[in-house]
Amino acid sequence: MDTADSLERAQMVGTVGVMMAEMARKISTAAAVWRVLGEEMGKEVPVFAALGTTGHEGAAYTRMVVVRGVDAKQETVWLSSHCGAQKVEHLRLHPTAEVVIWLPEQRMQIRLRSNWRVIDGAVTARMPGLKGVRMRAWDQHSAATRLMFFHPTPMRPLDAKGLRALKQRMEMAGDVQMQTMPPMEFALLVGTVERMDVLRVAGSIHERWIHAKGQRGWKSERVTP
Ligand SMILES: Cc1cc2nc3c(=O)[nH]c(=O)nc-3n(C[C@H](O)[C@H](O)[C@H](O)COP(=O)(O)O)c2cc1C
Repeated sequence: MDTADSLERAQMVGTVGVMMAEMARKISTAAAVWRVLGEEMGKEVPVFAALGTTGHEGAAYTRMVVVRGVDAKQETVWLSSHCGAQKVEHLRLHPTAEVVIWLPEQRMQIRLRSNWRVIDGAVTARMPGLKGVRMRAWDQHSAATRLMFFHPTPMRPLDAKGLRALKQRMEMAGDVQMQTMPPMEFALLVGTVERMDVLRVAGSIHERWIHAKGQRGWKSERVTP
């Protein structure tokens, strides 16, 4: 490649870089990050995340989850799970936990430190005002996913006899139950976000912002990546 070619190529790369920077979504305020999240939730593809929790022995646990909703006004993020799952036990014990979202198209990692509330059947029985929000979340789940909530408590040893019983139970759960009310075990996990750590891994200098919720609203700071 001669000098003229190299210069042309460098110019092209520069132009593409500028175009990408112009197209890149703004992340310098918490409101901008909520907008990015809202847009992602509007797309066909599910938004996957890793949820980290702390167990009773102080150890860290992480697993994949589907982000079921975000509410920019309430500053909340929603997940769902079986209320017998370990993550739910952990969140009841240590309600402050981080969920990490990777948005491949945006080349963006969004870490949301949140305060979690578990809304299962027992909670809505005590607080009927929360029935609607849990019901709306249930309605969003596919039939196949709903069926999972009719499983017995997760993390119990499963031998051949237990597996047969589980299959029978699944057959009996049937469409009627799935289409009406969520079982008691269906837990909506609502995280009120108190800190965002947002990293865009594009360009030669990665962009990282910390947005922290204080008494006077969100405070934002760009930090070294
Ligand atoms: C792509 C993917 C998405 C998942 N989404 C969820 C989810 O939304 N909720 C959930 O409880 N488990 C989900 N799981 C299963 C969890 O990762 C985990 O294995 C299970 O919930 C048990 O976790 P726990 O024992 O730590 O509670 C998902 C797994 C994968 C691979």
